[in-house]
Amino acid sequence: MGVPFDQMDGDIWMNGSFVPWKDAKIHVLTHGLHYASSVFEGERAYGGEVFKLRAHTERLIESGRILGFKVPYSAETLDAATNELLKRQGFVDAYVRPVAWRGSEMMGVSAQNNTINVAIAAWVWPSYFDPEQRMKGIRLDMAEYRRPDPMTAPSRAKAAGLYMICTISKHAAEAKGYADALMLDWRGRVAEATGANIFFVGDGVIHTPDPDCFLNGITRQTVIELARRRGLEVRERAIMPEELSGFSECFICGTAAEVTPVAEIADWRFTPGDITRQLIGDYSNEVQPKRQAAE
Ligand SMILES: Cc1ncc(COP(=O)(O)O)c(C=O)c1O
Repeated sequence: MGVPFDQMDGDIWMNGSFVPWKDAKIHVLTHGLHYASSVFEGERAYGGEVFKLRAHTERLIESGRILGFKVPYSAETLDAATNELLKRQGFVDAYVRPVAWRGSEMMGVSAQNNTINVAIAAWVWPSYFDPEQRMKGIRLDMAEYRRPDPMTAPSRAKAAGLYMICTISKHAAEAKGYADALMLDWRGRVAEATGANIFFVGDGVIHTPDPDCFLNGITRQTVIELARRRGLEVRERAIMPEELSGFSECFICGTAAEVTPVAEIADWRFTPGDITRQLIGDYSNEVQPKRQAAE
């Protein structure tokens, strides 16, 4: 365990200005804390630039809209704040966490008059999974909880409330020695890991579940584009757990996880192979800033 996250040094952008890290606080009677009226993003900077920053910022604003609130800053302002924050912190490769939440004016289910707060923090955060385990392929357990029906929860929002079952599932998996858990959806179809989307490879074809009740990750969309650029076939479709025995490779992907091979899901076994390796390489090239050749 390193320094707790509220005790680190530097600045955090909060509601329009930079404040010292340790002063970026909220009151205990904050609606976002009690009622999960909070949305967030997870971004990674490579070589001093956040990969697909605008897409993340737009998703933050859209997540707020889905929860019924307007993020009170434009995408331009939030992007500029992010870039300035990275410069101030002196970070080249870093993780960036914007968050927007309802404040304290009203404390009940209804919070029509609450101010919307926004903060952006950044820290150095290398590999999401143990680097040694990572290339061998991580081990996933099956999660007890399922991704909810979009009629039950706003599944297109990156909303704090949707992570409740992710933390429960990840803790249960870790307690059994697994790195993470595979969540099915409410229909029993393969959905995603607790913080990343999932892909399989069988007979040279890539298969990934339709993101109809979970986040259509920015990394997921990038990986699909990279695979197609290589001429690989990608099928987005419903995948049932019984099909997993027919796949040879498996990997998960997300901003934090990047492209991480999977070796086991419960009793199913996979071997990180050529397609996974190629996509790890392609993704790592793609995230580097595209600077002018002359530079
Ligand atoms: C539950 C969940 N699914 C998928 C993803 C992947 O999304 P992205 O690639 O946009 O980071 C994430 C990470 O943000 C996540 O938390």
